[in-house]
Amino acid sequence: MTLRELIRAGAEYLTENGVEDAAFDARQLAMFLFSLNGTALLLQGDRTVSPEEQAAYRALLERRAAGEPLQYLLGQWEFCGEPFFVGPGVLIPRPETEQLAQWCIETVRDRGLKCVYDLCAGTGCIGLTVAKSCPAARVYLLELYDGALAYLKQNEAAFALPNTAVIQADVLRGLPQGLPAPDLIVSNPPYIRAEEIPGLQKEVGFEPVAALDGGGDGYVFYRAIAEQWLPLLPKGGFAAVECGEGQPETVAELFGPTLECAVEKDLYGVPRFVTGARL
Ligand SMILES: C[S@@+](CC[C@H](N)C(=O)[O-])C[C@H]1O[C@@H](n2cnc3c(N)ncnc32)[C@H](O)[C@@H]1O
Repeated sequence: MTLRELIRAGAEYLTENGVEDAAFDARQLAMFLFSLNGTALLLQGDRTVSPEEQAAYRALLERRAAGEPLQYLLGQWEFCGEPFFVGPGVLIPRPETEQLAQWCIETVRDRGLKCVYDLCAGTGCIGLTVAKSCPAARVYLLELYDGALAYLKQNEAAFALPNTAVIQADVLRGLPQGLPAPDLIVSNPPYIRAEEIPGLQKEVGFEPVAALDGGGDGYVFYRAIAEQWLPLLPKGGFAAVECGEGQPETVAELFGPTLECAVEKDLYGVPRFVTGARL
């Protein structure tokens, strides 16, 4: 069997098992297994695949067919053009979140902000991206759970920037003692209503509940940010958060007493972000 035939058979297997982007996933898994980029994969399409290689590919396909996210199988996923380590225990960075990171980068640069907090940092995709693009700012990345923290530290080490600090802390308890006040707060917190979690897509079920669970009504983290974090901002300080569908209006109301807020749409046209400046 050739590599090309192997991938074609892999795509068929994934399609039969209801995987949405079967052809893409089959190719990505082959690139990962054979350590090839897209061009090399094309050039080596006629190469013969050994029975051991076929078995290893089959094992990956079976895990994917069982719902394990492609990103966890690959161990890395790109965010704003940079690879981030991912795996069970941490939320996979989503494409819409790139817009939030870009908003922060522009705001930090335009306003010359110096102290950024990424609350509920997960992989660190937002905070590390901002830190890399804004070397004059110091970025604190707060994460509570060990599972996510392991990936956060691994990503921080890979970025090797002089202006980041990873802190294990509970965002619901406010600013940890001894840390400076923020002048920009960014967060993509857990925002799904607890009762909705069991009904989520199969792949999402592999992600940690702690990354998803926004409490009974989904607003626990936005309330904590409104009450404990936004008052720390100086006049002219900024905040930006990502929200679930249908949540931005309520989040803007929660932030309203402290911030002048705007609701912004994501790349799919869905109202998704609340941004604002301290009044
Ligand atoms: C929705 S994920 C977002 C991760 C990352 N910011 C991103 O955009 O991909 C939320 C993260 O918050 C973390 N988390 C949950 N409860 C927390 C808490 N009380 N304090 C700090 N982090 C928390 C979870 O472990 C998870 O990594």
